[in-house]
Amino acid sequence: MQRKTALVTGGSAGIGKETVKALVAQGYEVLIAARDARKGLALVAQLRRDTPGAQVDFIACDLSEFGQVVALAQAVQARWTQLDALVLNAGLFTPQLRCNSAGYEFMFATTHLGHFLLTHHLLPLVLAAPDARVVVTSSVAHWMGGGFDFDSLRSPSTRSLLMLVPFRAYGRSKLANLLFVRELARRVGGTSVKVNAFHPGPVNTEIWRDTPSLFNTLIRPGLISEAAGARTQIQLVTAPGLRESGGYWARGKLDYSSPASRNRALAAQLWQYSEQALGITRFGQPADDTGLQQSA
Ligand SMILES: NC(=O)c1ccc[n+]([C@@H]2O[C@H](COP(=O)([O-])OP(=O)(O)OC[C@H]3O[C@@H](n4cnc5c(N)ncnc54)[C@H](OP(=O)(O)O)[C@@H]3O)[C@@H](O)[C@H]2O)c1
Repeated sequence: MQRKTALVTGGSAGIGKETVKALVAQGYEVLIAARDARKGLALVAQLRRDTPGAQVDFIACDLSEFGQVVALAQAVQARWTQLDALVLNAGLFTPQLRCNSAGYEFMFATTHLGHFLLTHHLLPLVLAAPDARVVVTSSVAHWMGGGFDFDSLRSPSTRSLLMLVPFRAYGRSKLANLLFVRELARRVGGTSVKVNAFHPGPVNTEIWRDTPSLFNTLIRPGLISEAAGARTQIQLVTAPGLRESGGYWARGKLDYSSPASRNRALAAQLWQYSEQALGITRFGQPADDTGLQQSA
């Protein structure tokens, strides 16, 4: 039987790493995408050593750099004709706001724009799979995303009261994840593709390395293991006959998300903003899209 295929962004550490391990153990052929090749290749070596017959590889990609995202998509297209699981998990917290080379706030560029562009390119492969899943790692922090301030997505002000501005920007990137999921689910409705977002819980991963020490002291006692944090992600990828699409999940169940995350007009506005930012004219039809060459 043909192996199922999965691309896991941010699969080299934390929650994504646990999902990669589970998918490899279940016989999926897995590609990990992240920036640090040393870390990614060490995981690949470990999995090949520990799991007989493991088919797993690593591709270096900084999702905030759109040319690298296009190269990642091309590498996937060269390897596979269908993609059973697109796991959009990479994310980070930056204690000071900074921008990618195109001038977009870094967390938003990585977590939302990079994943948006990747999905645009890979949607034909996802649609070619009989029961495909798109799973996006959002967060309860999406509640902090507020009314979504489009004006500060480029050249954001770094002036802030303590960590308020970076925390809000992180929340906005996670709100963008959720708005993307809702709109993508609507657009692929009527196909067999299921698109869902989830909150993993407060998980003991490297994401907390740059948060303030007082904050870390307060939250550390409540953190759960990486394996526990990955459970819902693994479930959304592998559960047979999953019916739900466009949902926000936590602890293995559908959960309540913020009013902003359910705002259809805001989702449409973000979609249009993202297409313009990335030069996309026909989402999911990369072959017809001359704008994509501009972002490469
Ligand atoms: N930990 C929590 O409590 C928690 C709670 C809610 C949501 N989340 C979300 O869970 C997801 C995974 O985070 P984690 O907690 O597992 O953190 P983590 O241990 O720091 O793992 C993050 C992963 O993302 C990759 N990554 C970061 N920036 C990237 C970029 N620009 N391009 C490509 N890959 C990038 C990292 O690899 P490289 O650095 O090598 O690129 C790593 O593989 C994130 O989306 C995060 O927002 C976490």
